[in-house]
Amino acid sequence: MWQRQVVIVFLTCISFSKTFKYQVIPENEDIFQDCKDQPNGVYGIGTLLDFSEITYETVGQSVILKGNSRSLWDIKSKDRVQFELRILEYAWGDWQPTLYSMKVPDFCSKMYDTDQYWYKIWLSNLKNLEDVKDKCLTPGTKYENGNCNMTVVFESYLLMYGRYKGEVKFTAFDEFNKPRPIKICFEARIELQRLS
Ligand SMILES: *[C@@H]1O[C@H](CO)[C@@H](O)[C@H](O)[C@H]1NC(C)=O
Repeated sequence: MWQRQVVIVFLTCISFSKTFKYQVIPENEDIFQDCKDQPNGVYGIGTLLDFSEITYETVGQSVILKGNSRSLWDIKSKDRVQFELRILEYAWGDWQPTLYSMKVPDFCSKMYDTDQYWYKIWLSNLKNLEDVKDKCLTPGTKYENGNCNMTVVFESYLLMYGRYKGEVKFTAFDEFNKPRPIKICFEARIELQRLS
């Protein structure tokens, strides 16, 4: 494992002079899958949000997500919610870690931060932003989603190509900082297409 990680660092080219522009293309039209091989108490996106009214539409190369969703997660409104994101790369027949990861110990304070990717892709399109922006992921919160274009363009100093996946984990902590029993893990598989 140690050797593999070193190899990845050497294969990842870093440019200090220019950025590369990429288009993210979801691999599956219904975008989110549950994480595989998780310990007891870890559930998929269907335990976080009711997706039954969500539809996906492919327009050209873009996947557009629309329809209402509602938080189902069994947490309390004062809980601290931790968000973790890891980007993995498909290489040598398996998923390998990359240099990209992110941990937000207090997700609720950042959820509606306009600089965040989840805000740009998802929350910026909400039709009922004013009603939900103080509620974080408290169960029952209904998100009236506008059209969310999941085919995102971004820029990076790293030269990348091929198949990747983003793995998202949510953990809630009670007032004693004890994790709630129901944790969330889901992933989205993507292909990166370099635009420039
Ligand atoms: C979705 O976003 C991509 C990247 O910005 C853009 O090329 C595409 O036209 C958008 N699709 C729709 C249907 O708006």
